[in-house]
Amino acid sequence: MKLFDVYPLFNIAPAKAQGSWLWDDKGEKYLDLYGGHAVISIGHSHPHYVQALSDQLHKIAFYSNSIQNPLQGKLAEKLGQLSGYAEYQLFLCNSGAEANENALKLASFVTGRKKVIAFKRAFHGRTSGAVAATDNPRIVAPFNAGHAIEFVPLNDERSFSQALTNDVAAVIIEGIQGVGGIQLPDDSFLQFLDKKCRANNTLLILDEIQSGYGRTGKFFAHQYAGIKPGLITIAKGMGNGFPVGGVLIQGDIKPWSGMLGTTFGGNYLASAASLAVLEVIENEGLLDNAAAMGSYLLEALSNIPKTENVRGRGLMIGFDLPDDKLKVRSDLLFNHHIFTGEAKPNTIRLLPPLTLNKSEIEIFLAALKEALL
Ligand SMILES: Cc1ncc(COP(=O)(O)O)c(C=O)c1O
Repeated sequence: MKLFDVYPLFNIAPAKAQGSWLWDDKGEKYLDLYGGHAVISIGHSHPHYVQALSDQLHKIAFYSNSIQNPLQGKLAEKLGQLSGYAEYQLFLCNSGAEANENALKLASFVTGRKKVIAFKRAFHGRTSGAVAATDNPRIVAPFNAGHAIEFVPLNDERSFSQALTNDVAAVIIEGIQGVGGIQLPDDSFLQFLDKKCRANNTLLILDEIQSGYGRTGKFFAHQYAGIKPGLITIAKGMGNGFPVGGVLIQGDIKPWSGMLGTTFGGNYLASAASLAVLEVIENEGLLDNAAAMGSYLLEALSNIPKTENVRGRGLMIGFDLPDDKLKVRSDLLFNHHIFTGEAKPNTIRLLPPLTLNKSEIEIFLAALKEALL
């Protein structure tokens, strides 16, 4: 059987990884400033994470969601404590798209409404509702296109107010747009959405799948705006590579038996991995490290001639390349052995492990300066 060929692949086969570094099957070493799409939060193969997962695997790996699994409760408690959302409830699932799908469904259940407002350049995943709320017609099949979604421009209060009719169930927005090229909602815009949604009995969904889990230097990117949305979706950095996702749900939303569900969500391994991630984030002060290393990197990038529109928060950073330097990403990868991300047409995205240090940053800056010459 052949693989269904949907991914454009680099001809590199990583065989092991440690911290911010990868080694391929030929022993070549690479600096990882992309974290496999913002997934590697605490660094590759962190010893505490490896130990926690191995210990759990030797005890029990899986049973269904019809038994007691105390690890889920421990995870919810630790997540509540570190994120500042102790009074919220946690629904566990397996991926970012599934988290958004469940959040959209919940908002519709709670409000009895159908319409959703999303934003231009948004990416929320590839399941039916999530992809319908994604601003990329190329990946929306006719089957997915029947949802009542209205897209409005980011940071445009007037367009948003016009779209917010009294039949809107949810507004979904990324803490910082990732796939869209590191586009930041203004703090004042998020405050405006929060206020308007409350007044309209609409649920605000903050998609923190890429921007959450400490990536921006706060637990969630929206916490810079000082708001508390009704629903928050998480995945990526949550499991440091173990597939897991979740929805944080405000305390007054009442569940009923069978309202949401999944076979694998919150299984022993996923919970052990997620708990280990939170323990490392706390014990190693990774929010502070992301904030400090992020500021250092942002400042240094701004001082490099030919980097344009340097932007971001913490270790979620984007900058644009001039038209004559569009090969910089492949130059960094193949000549300097540094993984970075991109957003079409000309943005470089940096989403490194939150453990990144100054010497690793210096290696990148030297390579980037050379690539931009
Ligand atoms: C902001 C955001 N939401 C949702 C998703 C979808 O997550 P997943 O690929 O785990 O389904 C992504 C993935 O890139 C994302 O960046």
